[in-house]
Amino acid sequence: MQLSAGQTTRASAFTGQRVGVHAVARPGAAKARRTMPAVEAKRVAVLGAAGGIGQPLSLLLKMNKCVTELALFDVAPLVKGVAADLSHCNTPVQVSAHVGDAELEACLKGCELVVIPAGVPRKPGMTRDDLFNINAGIVMNLVTACAKYCPNAILEIISNPVNSTVPIASEVLKAAGCYDPRKLLGVTTLDVVRANTFVAQAKGLDLKEVDVPVIGGHAGITILPLLSQTVPSVTFSDAERKALTSRIQDAGTEVVEAKAGAGSATLSMAYAAARMAESTLLGMQGEPNMFECAFVQSDVVPGSPFFASRVQLGPEGVAKVNGLGQLNEFEKAAMEAMLPELKAQIEKGIAFAKNPPKKE
Ligand SMILES: NC(=O)c1ccc[n+]([C@@H]2O[C@H](COP(=O)([O-])OP(=O)(O)OC[C@H]3O[C@@H](n4cnc5c(N)ncnc54)[C@H](O)[C@@H]3O)[C@@H](O)[C@H]2O)c1
Repeated sequence: MQLSAGQTTRASAFTGQRVGVHAVARPGAAKARRTMPAVEAKRVAVLGAAGGIGQPLSLLLKMNKCVTELALFDVAPLVKGVAADLSHCNTPVQVSAHVGDAELEACLKGCELVVIPAGVPRKPGMTRDDLFNINAGIVMNLVTACAKYCPNAILEIISNPVNSTVPIASEVLKAAGCYDPRKLLGVTTLDVVRANTFVAQAKGLDLKEVDVPVIGGHAGITILPLLSQTVPSVTFSDAERKALTSRIQDAGTEVVEAKAGAGSATLSMAYAAARMAESTLLGMQGEPNMFECAFVQSDVVPGSPFFASRVQLGPEGVAKVNGLGQLNEFEKAAMEAMLPELKAQIEKGIAFAKNPPKKE
């Protein structure tokens, strides 16, 4: 089979879909290798593994050929049952369970990738920022433990508000003397997954081939899909562009309202986080064409020290933060409108980490 420039035939270990599909035919993308790199030992932790996201995410990681050990942590003792349940799946991944802060060391020692979905989800009427007061402290505590027990691990933060929890994590890691911006990523993959799905449905395209970069942050108007850069190339009317952008920005709320108080997106989030983890693990193994959008330390947009854009994943995590490409007038205006909000949420996270509330 002939490959076009940048095309990869890599089949995802968990979905069968091609991963890194967003690299298809993008200028400058190198030709993908077609051989699977030898699988190296990879210990991956999920912190918050007993939760709505944590459980299906752990299942998907138990099915992932890049993972050798899966360490599950939660404050809820249910995590022991989750691990027992998963351990009956006849895949070679070794599963362990760890409950409470006293078991964080045993969980995190030797981990190369830590995925963090710990914290409370939204209820109808709440914004992601409303979760700050509870989740900020949870993320701070967990990242402090990561700095201590696996200072070289790549951390992927799912806990909301991502626009603030990632800056919190960076400050914690800086204070511990082990901050490496290549190894701290806010997971915004769900915004890309949603954008790809909605655009494919609206335009009658093959779901597996569509890629829409989503930039900015992960809350409300800070989520900015670059519809003008959709692959394959498609055109949108002004009305379509406006409606699709709003739907992608509000998709989380669609799920929160449909679940009517019982939580937010869990299954699609687990799917998205598993895709992000797999791309990261393949990048760590030397696979050259792993690209994902993620919320990372960035100088792509002046004045915004963190920003989501497409990044290339390599052996140490983020190998390169890509620029934004050409934005159309609609996207430029949306970008201007979102920046004050994004910067305020970043600053809120930094201020919290620098001056955390005293523990009683
Ligand atoms: N980044 C995204 O795109 C995205 C999408 C959906 C949800 N989220 C966020 O993910 C988080 C989790 O959502 P969920 O639906 O799984 O919630 P959930 O309440 O179902 O699960 C959260 C889990 O975290 C655990 N937990 C709480 N405090 C902890 C601590 N200190 N250490 C370890 N574990 C702890 C809980 O016991 C629970 O098992 C929420 O903050 C939610 O807003 C992010």
